[in-house]
Amino acid sequence: MSSDPKSPSSADSFDVIVIGAGPAGYPAAIRAAQNKLSVACIDEWKNHDGTATFGGTCLNAGCIPSKALLESTELYHRAHEEFAVHGIKLEGIGLDLAQMQKRKSGIVRAMTQGIVALFKAAGVTGLHGHGRLLPGRKVEFTAHDGSRRTLSARHVVLASGSAPMPLSSTPFKPPHIVDSWGALEFEAVPKRLGVIGCGVIGLELGSVWRRLGSEVVIIEALPDFLAFADQQLAREALRQFKKQGLDIRTGAKVSGATVSGNAVEVTYSDAKGEQRVSVERLVVAIGRRPYTKDLFAPDTGVQLDERGFIKVDEHCRTGVENVWAIGDCVRGPMLAHKGKEEGVMVADLIAARYGEMNYKVIPFVIYTAPEIAWVGLTEEQVKASGRDYKTGTFPFLASGRARALEQTQGFAKIVAARNDDEILGVHIVGPFAGELIAEAVLAMEYSASSEDLQRTIHAHPTLAEAVHEAALSVDKRSIDSINR
Ligand code: FAD
Ligand code: NAI
Repeated sequence: MSSDPKSPSSADSFDVIVIGAGPAGYPAAIRAAQNKLSVACIDEWKNHDGTATFGGTCLNAGCIPSKALLESTELYHRAHEEFAVHGIKLEGIGLDLAQMQKRKSGIVRAMTQGIVALFKAAGVTGLHGHGRLLPGRKVEFTAHDGSRRTLSARHVVLASGSAPMPLSSTPFKPPHIVDSWGALEFEAVPKRLGVIGCGVIGLELGSVWRRLGSEVVIIEALPDFLAFADQQLAREALRQFKKQGLDIRTGAKVSGATVSGNAVEVTYSDAKGEQRVSVERLVVAIGRRPYTKDLFAPDTGVQLDERGFIKVDEHCRTGVENVWAIGDCVRGPMLAHKGKEEGVMVADLIAARYGEMNYKVIPFVIYTAPEIAWVGLTEEQVKASGRDYKTGTFPFLASGRARALEQTQGFAKIVAARNDDEILGVHIVGPFAGELIAEAVLAMEYSASSEDLQRTIHAHPTLAEAVHEAALSVDKRSIDSINR
């Protein structure tokens, strides 16, 4: 696929070439085109069926398909477990996994084709194939049919993303030992599913298959559950996941896995010694690493840090004139929205416009049930910084809307500075936490105090009132819960 550039000086020369059309690269390309620059965006992604698409990990094998399955499986689970409480009688609820997967694929197809339409409307030249930066801002482009040509640009943006981290003791062996992409494409519900790594993928995909009936065992190396999150929030989340039947084993070091027939035997050691668990499928989800294979020639001057990330400054400049890098291939959290904002910032800076990223207020969301979301510092981080602080919490049990939804687990929590009341962190575990956190992000972006939130009118009855009441609770002025 290719569409015409806005104002190319020649077919192979552009103001901006973006390598990678994931959630970092494609917004960079679109914003650059909006800034009246001629733009090409190159991407080599191929799906398992061989189709070449834009959208990167996020749209094809990450955020979007995982959320589609999380939604379907949550509905299935609720139809089984919760509808009766609402007085809804259902008989013969059945699972049609093929249809569930088909719906997921349809969403992915619509979203990835949407990028083709967005490129066309913006005047971005989309190119399917491999891009490799050469010295002097030349880019060698190898199309999927093997044909090769050299493009040139005033600016090049590297947005090559990341790939699953392999575990040397437990190499991928599809279909038995798979990465997250494989775990999104199971054609049957595994009777027993093992996951190595209790991070975001372990929890989200563990939840998907648990809801469909798998016995799910998650093996985590660290002793603490969700060690990077606020620990009050982590404790509540763990309680809920255990109730759902997720078998989470922390402080466990995997030593290997062998496949025999349809079984995977996993061995690990924990405080009690050597352990064994037998599963039908094993997902390795121990993090992702930057992907820069054959992305640039050695003499371009682009440098990698010791962990393989492309070295950049706070504005995503690589240090090589007019070469930028954004998204998962550079430092910072590996999140689609972080990459998107970097892409927009870079495209605006290239056009000599204002561009800035506020790395302190990037929201994190885990799309389990209950959802988990936060922004800013955890209580533990604030305590460690030595800054005096106060906290306020509000339980969803006291929310009329949460009761109506029959989803009363969890709470909203705000950490604010004691001296000037500035909001330092907001942590939510509960229904639609991922939507609720947007208010906290905006508040923190504007350096709001908890009193600013206290004095903001929230509609009743909404889940957002939990954030309002948590802010009131910071000063022990909650109306709808007992102030402690
Ligand atoms: P990518 O999306 O990886 O895109 C990079 C693109 O560059 C790819 O298409 C690749 O083929 C292409 N490419 C690489 N090298 C070259 C080259 N030399 N030439 C041409 N093309 C090249 N994040 C969230 O914020 N929310 C979520 O809910 C979420 N869920 C996730 C669920 C899963 C299962 C996974 C695996 C990830 C999830 N993520 C989520 C993370 C998110 O997918 C990444 O942070 C995001 O995709 C990074 O965007 P990117 O553009 O930097 O890289
Ligand atoms: P992760 O970093 O979230 O979690 C990996 C977990 O594996 C950690 O808890 C780590 O301690 C553990 N681990 C590492 N080595 C181990 C070992 N040898 N044995 C056992 N446990 C081990 O990484 P994950 O879940 O693979 O996801 C990758 C990235 O994708 C995330 O960091 C996130 O950036 C992104 N993502 C975001 C989502 C979202 O925003 N909702 C959803 C899914 C992924």
